[in-house]
Amino acid sequence: MSRAIYGTIEEEIRALKKERNAVIMAHNYQIGEVQDAADFTGDSLRLAQEARKTNAEVILFCGVHFMAETASILCPDKKVLVPDLEAGCSLADMIRPEDVRQWKAEHPDGLVVCYVNTSAEVKAESDYCCTSSNAEKVVRSIPEDKDVLFIPDFFLGTYVKQRTGRKNMELWRGYCPTHMLIQSRDIEKLRAGHPGAEFIMHPECGCLTKSMHLADRILSTEGMVRYVKESPAREFIVATETGVLHRMRKDNPGKNFIPASVHAVCNYMKMNTLEKIVASLENLQYEVKVPPELAQRAYLPIERMLSIV
Ligand code: 13P
Repeated sequence: MSRAIYGTIEEEIRALKKERNAVIMAHNYQIGEVQDAADFTGDSLRLAQEARKTNAEVILFCGVHFMAETASILCPDKKVLVPDLEAGCSLADMIRPEDVRQWKAEHPDGLVVCYVNTSAEVKAESDYCCTSSNAEKVVRSIPEDKDVLFIPDFFLGTYVKQRTGRKNMELWRGYCPTHMLIQSRDIEKLRAGHPGAEFIMHPECGCLTKSMHLADRILSTEGMVRYVKESPAREFIVATETGVLHRMRKDNPGKNFIPASVHAVCNYMKMNTLEKIVASLENLQYEVKVPPELAQRAYLPIERMLSIV
């Protein structure tokens, strides 16, 4: 590929995108400059929807590995790239396909609902997939007489169980180590110091069971971005990975956003940089390709995730 001289790295990325007929998707937890370089920024659901719609030949996915796998399953004819193959997800690693098979053997009438934060192999063992945006709707869509086996996030599962009042729902005990860093006592302190602030919380928070009653809203990252725009409040305490504050601040210059914990930073999400994006587009690296047989088995639960919204 010929190298032109560019004034800025952002200009270089724009030129490379055009040359490669590529689109950049960035999750809301990416560093600010990666979000700014992206064509679409959003939560897991929105990015999967956009991946399915795009006409680009190349999808450069700036998020974590399972998101690129989902894009590869939805768009088998496209080249799906990630800037860094090491950007994984600790929550997704908390369940293996053999664990799901074992759990299903113990509950032969149960239906498996997997959170999108799972590997393609785990999705292939599942009946339904969901994101934090539509987990409640997905569970409600399952006939009452069927046991639900919810994997792998215990806190999202607890929230959905509480919202739906469903008794026959078993929860896997996985968790997101980043959301685990957000503690109830920090939230209580912040609430006391900012009595006018609204408190919004992601359902992956480890303190969800203790702090649920304090939350004004429990939302996915995209739900949060939308909510803070619409709310008349001027100040918000935000309980999720801190990357989402970039978009909130950019979209709402007159409002104040306070992270529930400054320590809630996902090191995997922060591995993607502008330099790696350039290398990725230049060298068409690193491709994430889910093998067709596996993709075929994982497709149905993902399709259900996209249709139940
Ligand atoms: P959402 O962006 O779908 O709310 O999920 C957050 C997350 O855990 C991504 O890994």
